[in-house]
Amino acid sequence: MEFREGALENMDINKKFWTGKKVFVTGHTGFKGAWLSFWLRSLGSTVKGFALPPPTDQNLFAVLNLESNVQSVFGDIRDLDLLKNHIRKFDPDVVIHMAAQAIVRESYQNPVDTFQVNAIGTAHLLEAVRYTNNTKAVICVTSDKCYENREWPWKYRENDPMGGWDPYSASKGCSELVISSYRNSFFNNEHYAKHGVAVASVRAGNVIGGGDWGQDRLIPDIMRAFSQNERVIIRNPSAIRPWQYILDLLSGYLLLAERLYEDGPNYMEAWNFGPNDNEEKTVKEIVQLISKLWGNGAYRELDPNSTSHPHEAFTLKLDSSKSRSRLGWMPKFTLEHSLECIVDWYKQYYSGENSMKELSEKHITAFETHRPYDSRAQVKDY
Ligand SMILES: NC(=O)c1ccc[n+]([C@@H]2O[C@H](COP(=O)([O-])OP(=O)(O)OC[C@H]3O[C@@H](n4cnc5c(N)ncnc54)[C@H](O)[C@@H]3O)[C@@H](O)[C@H]2O)c1
Repeated sequence: MEFREGALENMDINKKFWTGKKVFVTGHTGFKGAWLSFWLRSLGSTVKGFALPPPTDQNLFAVLNLESNVQSVFGDIRDLDLLKNHIRKFDPDVVIHMAAQAIVRESYQNPVDTFQVNAIGTAHLLEAVRYTNNTKAVICVTSDKCYENREWPWKYRENDPMGGWDPYSASKGCSELVISSYRNSFFNNEHYAKHGVAVASVRAGNVIGGGDWGQDRLIPDIMRAFSQNERVIIRNPSAIRPWQYILDLLSGYLLLAERLYEDGPNYMEAWNFGPNDNEEKTVKEIVQLISKLWGNGAYRELDPNSTSHPHEAFTLKLDSSKSRSRLGWMPKFTLEHSLECIVDWYKQYYSGENSMKELSEKHITAFETHRPYDSRAQVKDY
């Protein structure tokens, strides 16, 4: 792939921008929120997190000791008054909203809760932002699953219709409608000079990285099994997903937040962040790649006629041309390199020999200084 002259500088996060910024992160006890909070702290931001306690016993929030490094509040996003009080008191420069019921299977078991947390929770967040004085940039994280899935081979673009078969996907489609309604009604481009807030939504695919122990997710399932010398059972071996390395994805959110803060009216809209072309692999291909990197991992495919797994979208691809051309963003790591980092992270975690904080810092530094599609891309630089 050709790389545009000048784009390398554009895609780097502006450390100066983040130093001293106050950032309110919802969902900081989850997989993505913990990485984001940790990275923001290393960039010199003051972070306040709002979320329920970590969703799994093993969790990155504890591994990175975030309780001592961010202002952490355990609260429910469905409690509007509590959320409002915390946002108002902190008065952040930037808000990144990630709190959600994020598991598709759980959404089949608790559909009403899923809609309340994901759709109404997003309304609460945006309502609370109306009571801040200094907030200039708000990013609401939804999902690639917000699109009406036609099971077609083409990639979804930001202006494709919202939808969602299962309650999780539909709740993310609903969140998008909530975001767009709040943007039209209260944070409208035309009245920007008055309110000064730029709101965007971001849609990404299946995010992969070290430190995820979520239920029903491929990488955690593989790592739990391999670390105990067990076979991993895979449900949808030929399903295609937009796999996305956590730091690549978060760098997109950070770049967008900078643009929203500095030039809000030109960026307040929806953005896709997806992998590079030809990196949308099947579940089986991912398992095989990880198995090779791990050394001795084995897998078994679940009977396709089994009724124990509910409907899930089969083919899901994201078109990220807009983020590439207007934000200068693109994934820095190839899928293979991302998987190397991930296997390294879990191997070191399960060996119990190293400080995972230090290792995670090293992975961030390696990412920040890495150049995409460099011939050195395949060399381990962590
Ligand atoms: N991980 C992925 O592959 C992926 C892909 C696309 C979109 N997303 C979205 O990214 C965001 C973060 O995902 P994640 O992978 O870190 O999920 P996660 O399950 O690891 O974390 C979810 C976070 O939300 C918090 N939360 C849940 N219910 C809450 C409530 N009622 N009140 C307050 N906090 C609550 C949890 O405490 C946790 O901090 C979510 O919005 C998710 O839907 C994730």
